[in-house]
This record gives sequence, structure tokens and C-alpha cells, in this order.
Amino acid sequence: MGTSGKSWEKRLSGEVDELAVDFVESLSYDRRLYKYDIAGSIAHAEMLSERGLISRAEFREIRDGLFAISDEIASGKFKFDKIDEDIHMAVEAGLIAKIGDVGKKLHTGRSRNDQVATDLRLWMRDEIEVLQARLTGLQKAFVKLGGKYAGEVMPSYTHLQRAQPVSIGAYVLSFVEQFERDFVRLGNCRDLLNVSPLGSGAVAGSTLDLDRESVAKKLGFAAVSRNSIDAVSDRDFCAEFIFDCSLIATHLSRFAEDFIIYCSSEFSFITISDKYCTSSSMMPQKRNPDMLELIRGKTGSVYGSLMAMLTILKGQPSTYNRDLQEDKIHVFKAADVVSASVDMAAAIVSNTKFNVKRIADGMDEGFLDATALAEYLVKKGVAFRQGHGVVGSLVAMCEKEGKKLGDVDLEVFKETCDAIEEDVYDVLGGGAVAGQYATEGSGGLEQTAEQVEFWKHVLRER
Ligand code: ARG
Repeated sequence: MGTSGKSWEKRLSGEVDELAVDFVESLSYDRRLYKYDIAGSIAHAEMLSERGLISRAEFREIRDGLFAISDEIASGKFKFDKIDEDIHMAVEAGLIAKIGDVGKKLHTGRSRNDQVATDLRLWMRDEIEVLQARLTGLQKAFVKLGGKYAGEVMPSYTHLQRAQPVSIGAYVLSFVEQFERDFVRLGNCRDLLNVSPLGSGAVAGSTLDLDRESVAKKLGFAAVSRNSIDAVSDRDFCAEFIFDCSLIATHLSRFAEDFIIYCSSEFSFITISDKYCTSSSMMPQKRNPDMLELIRGKTGSVYGSLMAMLTILKGQPSTYNRDLQEDKIHVFKAADVVSASVDMAAAIVSNTKFNVKRIADGMDEGFLDATALAEYLVKKGVAFRQGHGVVGSLVAMCEKEGKKLGDVDLEVFKETCDAIEEDVYDVLGGGAVAGQYATEGSGGLEQTAEQVEFWKHVLRER
């Protein structure tokens, strides 16, 4: 128990319980907002001077004091005291300690409620840009890998059953599409959050003649919030950001799952570098894709953050409540986990080889050419449903006789369907089909080459 010297607690008895001090503090995790807190304070103080609420000289003193504190925090010299609760009070207390009474003017027309809402938006704006750059790095790794194998063919799967042949490049580029949507989604999140809450005060604004537009402009916000009651408690951007992270984690997890399956001995489609594998403490032969498993496993924590964030929001009465302090734990956690996973995934992708010979050797298994044969029949004037049945019975026959479609004699083909001619053998064989796709965006060789060029161009510009 001690006595609090906090000005805003003059209203209270002054008694302090250590348990409560530890319970209420956010300084241990919100100190990472310090740069944004200081930037917000400098913009606010400058506006106060423009409006004559403090003098220009006082602004300069405040600004220089805040710069000095920023340097101290950056170099680890700043003394944090958990009694200050959060980064906002820590910086303000540090300022008053440094420049004296002038520092007490900084919080004019401001509350920690609009302050923290501002800080978190500023932080997230930057974080989104960094995360987008990481995503671009991952996309580039996929494009490089896809480009290398654009001319090679592999089976595509639906229901994890062999489906149709595709370019390996097309398969790899399918991930570039997913992360592109994540990139755009994050950009949308950034656009929507880029609004300044400063000037909303605790909930109702201020009786002082603050220039909200000026502060917003200094901080690079596109607009000022319209409604102070909403502005101090809006954390939609936090939920949205964590959702975006969750979807990135989903995409990463599915990629990891594929690569884990593909590097098993049963598949042996890919070899990932030893750098990203670990061995077993017991089984000497083991080479386990632990990094990929962790990427998949960490998805759980990101989803957990999303659930936590939504749950924090759901039962609160309007407007600011201290519950909201918990937002940062989950926002930071989701950002950190996803950032690390994106970088790890990029490194793995950059160090993965497709075992093209092994894949090619298996292309005749699983009747990958069956759909192309049905479409061949369409080109010969057979109704698709009828052709589908013809090929189905041919596949059943081949399966019984241990053959592939390409092994069937022309006479047998003709007995089943007389529209089949000598040229049927051009469309058969697992690999051949990949050269014959005609639709834009297909998994064909030509279309994949185009997609590789498209992505190289798009990502070069980023
Ligand atoms: N640390 C708090 C948070 O993160 C700052 C706002 C506190 N405001 C208040 N009225 N107690 O939400």
C-alpha cells in the first residue's frame, strides 16, 4: 500500500493496492505504442498553440521534451513505473518530470480515451504497411517457385482424390491469389480506420475551441470522426484487422497442410530444405516439417485473438469502458504471430523443390485424363452427360483390367462410342491434357505462363 500522486486520482482516497496496480496496468504491453503516442501528443500540442490555448514557446518546450523522451525510450533509458498504468500516463509523467509545469498543459482538451484510440489507429496504419510488405515477399517467393515449374505437370486434387492435370506453376500461383486478397483486405482495413478520434475527449468532445482538422492533417488522417460517443469506443478496426490476420493464418495453414502432405514419403512431391525440418529425438531416420506444422498450429492463437476481441466488444455498454484496454493484447498477438508465420512461409517456399520426375512418373495413375476424354466427345458432337457415362464405363473397365485409358484399343473405344476416332490418343495421357486447356485462368501450361508474367509485373511494381 502506498499513496498515489496521480493528479487524476485526487478524486480518490489515495490508497493503493498492489494487486490492483498490477491488474489495471497495460504499460507492460502498450509501451510499444510510444512513438505513436508521442506523435499524437506533438500534433495535439501544436494545435493547442495554434488556437492560443498554449503559447508557441510552450509548444516548443513540450515538443522537445517529448522528443527527448522518445529517444530515452528507444535507447532503453526511460524509467517506466507501473504506477503510471499505461504508456499515455508514463509519457506525460516523464514530460512533467523533465520540463516541469508546462508539461501539465499537454493534456488540455484530451482524454486517454481519444488518445488511445488515436495511438492504436496510428500504430495499425504502419503495421498494415509492414504486413503488406511481408505478404508481397511471400507472394514473390511463390511466383519464383511457380515460374520455375510452370512447364511441369502435376495432378490437381479435389476431395484429396486425383482430379485433373495442371501445371505445377498454376498450383503454386493459387496461393498468390489468396495472399493478394489478404493484401487488398488489409488495405481496405487501413482506409477505413484512417480517421482521427482526437478531439472526442472522454466521450462528449470539449468546450475548448480545438482544431480537430489541423491535428488530423498533421497525423496523416484522411478525416476526423463524426461522432465523439462512437469515436472513443469504436474498435471495429481491431476486430477487422484480427479477422484479416485470421484469414491470412487460414491461407497459411492450408498451404502448410499441402506441403506437409506433399513432402511425406507417400507423396514425395516436394523436398523442403533441411533448414526447415527437425529430426526426432528417438527415430534416427526422421525428417519432420515442424516449421510447417507450427505455421498450421499457430492459426489457433490467431483465431483465439479474434474470438477474444469480438467477445470483449459484445457486452459493453456504450461508450468507453476499461474492457477496451484488453484490445491491444489481441491485436498485437495476432499481428506478431501472423508476421512471423508469413516470413517463415516465404523462407520455406524459397527453399522448396518439386520432385518433377517422381510426379511425372505417377501422372498415369488415377485417370487424370478422363474429363478431357469426355470433353473430346463433346467436340465430336456427343452430349456431355452421355459422354460422361461413356468415359465412366471405360474407366471402370480399365480399372478392372489394370489399364489406363491410353491403353484401350481403338476398336474397343468404338464399341463403346462410335464418335471416338484415331485422334483420341492425342488427348490421353496424364500430362498431355495440361497443354490443351482452352479457358482463361485454367491450370494449363499456356495460361500458367501468362499468370506468371502477370504476377511478375504486378509484384515488381510493389
Ligand atoms: N490504458 C487505457 C486503454 O488502453 C487507456 C484509456 C484509459 N482511460 C480511462 N478512462 N481509464 O484503454
